[in-house]
Amino acid sequence: MNHEISNQLKQNQDIRENLKFLAENFSGKIVFSTSFGIEDQVITDVIFSQKLSAVEVFTLDTGRLFQETYATWDKTQIQYGQKISAYYPNNKKIEGFINENGINPFYESVNLRKQCCHIRKVEPLQRALKDVKIWITGLRAEHSPNRNELEILQWDEQYELYKYNPLLHWTTEEVKDYVTKKGVPYNVLHDQGFVSIGCAPCTRALKEGEDFRAGRWWWEDTSKKECGLHS
Ligand code: ADX
Ligand code: SF4
Repeated sequence: MNHEISNQLKQNQDIRENLKFLAENFSGKIVFSTSFGIEDQVITDVIFSQKLSAVEVFTLDTGRLFQETYATWDKTQIQYGQKISAYYPNNKKIEGFINENGINPFYESVNLRKQCCHIRKVEPLQRALKDVKIWITGLRAEHSPNRNELEILQWDEQYELYKYNPLLHWTTEEVKDYVTKKGVPYNVLHDQGFVSIGCAPCTRALKEGEDFRAGRWWWEDTSKKECGLHS
């Protein structure tokens, strides 16, 4: 990426202008991954309302998402009349894994949980990011202490591309304000105490005073809980 582009992104805080600029410069090589979380819905709104068809919007359907998440997906496609593509786990790998370990093996060990995340999310992500130059995400620093170390625009060694995290420093309040003002559809689980929403068996609502990440893989005893999408 040349300096002009990285300077534009670093200096200009306007997410609408930045995404338009990137779409024009990286047509066909730029993607946005959505999990339909409330911050992702802000980015989807920016892309779809400007009809930035040069950006592929995709989701990793693990097969274990909440019904409310599928409903958000459906509602979003209908409201904007634009497509969100889906990537699925490799059928042989997931069949082998379930047949060997059972349907909910993630509760048994961190190792099995990571294998499940790898098959259901990481391997499909690798396919989705093939030949991509810019990967847009909805990562926010508030969500986890190790995300404080991230930058809005950063080189990703693993996937060899630039990762653009435009909402990194947005607060929850700013995200909610945006969604309310613009009438953006969002996952109703956010109104029931859910903050970071992943797969149904591995996500719960937060209790009073818990940190944002506490509802993910809550039975695991580690401070850095990640599924391998963002290492
Ligand atoms: S995760 O690593 O713990 O699963 P998190 O739920 O915080 O990630 O979401 C951070 C960003 O990762 C989202 O804004 C989105 O860009 C991407 N992401 C997470 N889960 C998915 C998914 N199932 N499909 C597509 N993108 C996802
Ligand atoms: Fe499997 Fe849970 Fe990871 Fe989803 S979050 S891929 S169900 S271990």
